[in-house]
This record gives sequence, C-alpha cells and structure tokens, in this order.
Amino acid sequence: MSKKRSIAIILVAVCFAGCYYDKEELVYPRQATTTTTASCDTTAVKYSVDIKNILSTSCYGCHSGTAANGGGFKYDVYPGNLVPKALSGALVGSITHSPGFSPMPKGGGKLSDCDIAKIRTWVRNGAPNN
Ligand code: HEC
Repeated sequence: MSKKRSIAIILVAVCFAGCYYDKEELVYPRQATTTTTASCDTTAVKYSVDIKNILSTSCYGCHSGTAANGGGFKYDVYPGNLVPKALSGALVGSITHSPGFSPMPKGGGKLSDCDIAKIRTWVRNGAPNN
C-alpha cells in the first residue's frame, strides 16, 4: 500500500471516529443518572442567556473588547465574528476539538458536554440573536 493511501485511510478513520462520537453524544445525551449530575436542558437555548454566559466564562478573556490574544476574533458582540464562525462550522469544530480546527478554549480544558450541547443547538437553530 502506498504511503499516500495509508495516510488517506487514517484520515478517514479519524474523521469517522470523530463523527461517530458526535452522533453518540446527540443520541445519548448525558442525563442525570446520579444525584450529582445535573440534566442538560437544550430545549430553550438562548443567545442572550446561555451562549453569552458560556462565552463570557470561557472565551471573552481572549475573544472580546481589547483582548489581544484571541487572534483578533471578537465574540462579545452580535453578530461580530461569532455568527460567521458559528455558521461556517468553526465554532463547533473548535469546541469539540475536531480535526482541522484549532481546539478551544486555547490552552484550557474542554467545555462541559452540556455547554457544548447548548452551543450546538444554538448553531443548528441558525445562531439567532434571541
Ligand atoms: C487563551 C486565549 C483563548 C481562549 C481562552 C479562547 N481562544 Fe479561541 N482563539 C484564540 C486564538 C489565539 C485564535 C486564533 C489562532 C488559532 O486559531 O489558534 C483563536 C481562534 C478561535 C476560533 C477560530 C478558529 C478557526 O479555525 O477559524 C474560534 C471559533 C475560537 N477561537 C473559539 C473559541 C471559543 C468558543 C472559546 C471559548 C470556549 C475560545 N475560543 C477561547 C485564543 C483563545
């Protein structure tokens, strides 16, 4: 087998694993199985409440106002750079640490499954200013 070909196969396998994992998260969202795990409600996700809250906690430190360490991307104004990144897939790609995207938050731990689910839902709804 040629080197190129095996690289292609590995890439496909990695992508498949990523996609499969994503689906699994959607099909089996982590629900409260113990008293310490809160359930994740994504039925009424709002930009003004949920999304802003997540971004201000984990992203505004680099991606807002005069912060110079976010590559120039500002996510604290709507639509700003946020909506284009949401609609292009880069936002979800980066927070799910998917191949081909810069993993975010940079240098920090991944967002919680629930926060990721909320952002995914908001993006799937068309990233509205609600
Ligand atoms: C410590 C600083 C820092 C934090 C915190 C941070 N980012 Fe970033 N982010 C960057 C830098 C720098 C870039 C541009 C260079 C790069 O892509 O790595 C960037 C780029 C991005 C991009 C564009 C990637 C692309 O491929 O187009 C997205 C989307 C993004 N960040 C989302 C987020 C989100 C969402 C959070 C919070 C969960 C976050 N970032 C937290 C520094 C940060």
